[in-house]
Amino acid sequence: VHTAALTVAKSQGADLSALSPRSEWMIDPSLTYLNHGAFGAASRRVRAVQDDWRVRIEANPAAFTMYEQFDLLAEAAVPLAAFVGTAPNRLALVENATAGMAAVLSGIGLNAGDRIVTTSHVYGAIRNMLTHLGRERRVIVDEIALPAAPDGPKAILAPLGEALDQPTSLLVIDHIASPSALVMPLAEIIELAHARGVAVLVDGSHAPGMLDLDIDALGAEWYVGNCHKWLCAPKGAAFIAISPTAKRFSPLVVSHAYGAGFPAEFRKVGTRDPSAMLSIPEALALHADLGGANLRQRNRMLAAKAAEMIAEAIGGTILGPAAMRGAMASISLPGIPAERSATEALAARLRTEHRIEVLCLVFGGTAWVRLSAHAYNGENDYAALAAALKQLLPGEAHRT
Ligand SMILES: Cc1ncc(COP(=O)(O)O)c(C=O)c1O
Repeated sequence: VHTAALTVAKSQGADLSALSPRSEWMIDPSLTYLNHGAFGAASRRVRAVQDDWRVRIEANPAAFTMYEQFDLLAEAAVPLAAFVGTAPNRLALVENATAGMAAVLSGIGLNAGDRIVTTSHVYGAIRNMLTHLGRERRVIVDEIALPAAPDGPKAILAPLGEALDQPTSLLVIDHIASPSALVMPLAEIIELAHARGVAVLVDGSHAPGMLDLDIDALGAEWYVGNCHKWLCAPKGAAFIAISPTAKRFSPLVVSHAYGAGFPAEFRKVGTRDPSAMLSIPEALALHADLGGANLRQRNRMLAAKAAEMIAEAIGGTILGPAAMRGAMASISLPGIPAERSATEALAARLRTEHRIEVLCLVFGGTAWVRLSAHAYNGENDYAALAAALKQLLPGEAHRT
């Protein structure tokens, strides 16, 4: 399965059954897993390579940690930089996107009174980080309210452009927003910010492996991405990419490599397990064997088809136009109150009564189910979700 490149038929009749047998993944076989976007999922193949790294590390922990890891981490970054469209000497490996965002925000020299603009689609942990930064450094954080369910890129670009007309030091923008699953019109947003002299930090947590990515062409000053999500690297593998002219900085955890500069300083930040980072090349190889660009397109098509199927089954609406969606989609949940306790209770019933793992959340005053589509998912998974939701949602509206 992995060796044959997938030819994606663009017609309605494309084969959207699972592309990769579930037995090749570590997910509980009794689960229908529709929440890849949250924390990725491990394939047995990449996990085996990570296990080999751990055996090698522990065979001589001193030599590996003091000497060998430094060059090996630099080597692991080379294919990743090529894959995401940047240069290895401008890409630092970090443990996760949150750590990457923290390193950028603390490293780029924000001062009291500087204004940071972000949006209402920002990820909760990053909102907290910005709030903390505001309190500690007395920077001004302006969260711009964007429509929860925009009908096109203009609905995003117009309010952002207006917000950035006021003096601003930094725009923090998601490439793919977590709560809405929307793919932001990133190239236009960066253009709009740069036209006003505003530097841009992109939270691209979901993009590597979901979208075709060319970070240098996008041109943001700083771009943070995760490898454990859509590239299926082990957990503990993420990166910061910086543009050729952007400010370089040290890691938050300054350690033995201090003075080596960006990105080398990031290769020694205390004693840690680098096996996930070292397994990135294997995750990239798996991604390529599953079809690369074809896999990404197939996953987007599957998510789009699944969203239509579920929206029709339950009488919900899909968040955002298809052109602004990737391999995730959110569908409104008729009859479910926009309260966290209600969406969590629904997710718990899906998990325990139907063995379906999927994210149910409140965003913009509406309850949504956010589905994901990766290689191990097929159309039948979403038919199972549609049937389960029809049973669990209150009211008659969806019982046609
Ligand atoms: C948009 C966004 N930013 C940041 C994160 C945090 O990623 P991590 O948990 O790997 O630090 C996520 C994770 O879901 C996300 O969706």
